[in-house]
Amino acid sequence: MHRKRPEELRSHRWFGVEDLRAFGHRSRMLQAGYSESDFRGKPVIGIINTWSELSPCHFHFRTRAEEVKRGVWQAGGFPVELPAHPVTEQYQKPTSMLYRNLLAMETEELARSHPCDGLVLLGGCDKTPPGLMMGAISAGLPCIFVPAGPMLRGNWRGKTLGSGSDVWKYHAELRAGNITPAQWKDMEGGIARSFGTCMTAGTAATMMLAVEALGFTLPGASSIPAADSAHPRMATEAGRRIVEMVWEDLTPQALITEGSVDNAVTAAMAFGGSTNAIPHLIAMARRAGVMLDLERFDALSRRVPLVANLRPNAGEYLMEDFFYAGGARAFLNRIRDYLDLSARTVTGRTIGENIEGAEVFDETVILPLDKPLQKEGGLAVLKGSLAPNGAVIKTSASEQRLLQHTGPAVVFEDYADLKKRLDDPDLPVTADSVLVLKQAGPQGGPGMPEWGMLPLPQKLLKQGVRDMVRISDARMSGTSYGTCVLHVAPESHVGGPLAFVKDGDLIRLDVPNRRLDLLVDEAEMARRRAAWTPPKRRYGRGWTSLYLDNVTQADEGCDLRFLEGTLPTPEPDIY
Ligand code: FES
Ligand code: MG
Repeated sequence: MHRKRPEELRSHRWFGVEDLRAFGHRSRMLQAGYSESDFRGKPVIGIINTWSELSPCHFHFRTRAEEVKRGVWQAGGFPVELPAHPVTEQYQKPTSMLYRNLLAMETEELARSHPCDGLVLLGGCDKTPPGLMMGAISAGLPCIFVPAGPMLRGNWRGKTLGSGSDVWKYHAELRAGNITPAQWKDMEGGIARSFGTCMTAGTAATMMLAVEALGFTLPGASSIPAADSAHPRMATEAGRRIVEMVWEDLTPQALITEGSVDNAVTAAMAFGGSTNAIPHLIAMARRAGVMLDLERFDALSRRVPLVANLRPNAGEYLMEDFFYAGGARAFLNRIRDYLDLSARTVTGRTIGENIEGAEVFDETVILPLDKPLQKEGGLAVLKGSLAPNGAVIKTSASEQRLLQHTGPAVVFEDYADLKKRLDDPDLPVTADSVLVLKQAGPQGGPGMPEWGMLPLPQKLLKQGVRDMVRISDARMSGTSYGTCVLHVAPESHVGGPLAFVKDGDLIRLDVPNRRLDLLVDEAEMARRRAAWTPPKRRYGRGWTSLYLDNVTQADEGCDLRFLEGTLPTPEPDIY
């Protein structure tokens, strides 16, 4: 294998030559207190850090960045920390998804415009693994992902609580009058007990695992709890490893293949992971030129059993338990027959070698293949007259009796309409109705907010109803559950059939046959289409305007058109 020489480093153009500009670059390093021997001829490692005081999931990244640097120094590299958009799930409105592509652009441009030879990506909260990876793939530099890791288990009144999932669950109990407002308030202090990401099998855990299965983390890294001492050790090891990856020129393009992409999808499916993984993985794969689509998801999901016994699926456990049960390596080893074991990873070895011999220590958490939570993976892709380009449902988090259901629509034109009318005692709704929400897609939201787990009408909650069929062009949180059909494409905002659904229309959901149909005849649909006026655009300037002009639909990954593809971007001129 060819090993780079120092003169072949990308950063050599900034620091290694003898001209006016290089004089400036070196003198500014001396200004920062470094000696020439600190940086000259060494791989410059950009540590892309999504730390922020409004990102509790990434609170430990300030120290983790230092731990990564320790490893970079040890291995003979030169670490530089580059702060990037934190994309905080909890605080950014209208939805963090609006900013995933901004982080991707920022990551790519930070890497390209600076003298970086390799990247360490610090992320974990939902949109940051895909955002960082999309940007790093397009930048094309060797990179390694350091996952934030899950927070500790929640605890409240002696009960173990799972991020998100138990908030939704107990909020429904509060609305049904089964717990008191004081008890509910008390939960605020027990639901999130350490730094780190949500510790259910939500989007963060799914995406960190998928990035590991794609080959971009050290073995087992994605399941280490953020507060475990193994976590800083992993960060330091990643710092050491990236320096070698630069000398080996181990770029994302050398690692991503159809096989590694299938591994990421398969891992997410066997994990019963978040529906959000679908647009994220499609966008990531397409940045590498692999045309992943919904059909591939459905095919891989049908093949692999769901063996992670975790919430919010029917499972019981949380990510801390998953780690103690053997973690990501043991999990991937369990599903090894479904993986392309020859796919290469950041270690320089194959994924098969990385997981070799990894044992499951608790078979109630990582289940045997012949005793899965579900025989098939957790997600299904639907098509039909209501979703010509596809929709998705998390079957593992749905009530099984609802997976084949026909019922009359109760339509909400947008989220404000839903908030206004949902609990109206006169709303003509029964447990057999199908709740429909419009204006929640990539453009309609905008940013495809996580509104897809529509709350149930209070009068039905009081009758004991806990699940109904719900349909929207929204996403839902990876910690959510229920029979929620999501990501309907094309979305209502751009005139997809969802836009024309009216109260009382019959909708047929048929998951075994992968169908979603609006039982309205074509002549009537044509009339409604002709009478439809597209919703008015609310954003005329700024990032949101750029986003609205370019965002693709859910089935295409919600990337921006001009960021897709693998056309080479020239290296910057240095004059
Ligand atoms: Fe950050 Fe859930 S809010 S991972
Ligand atoms: Mg989430």
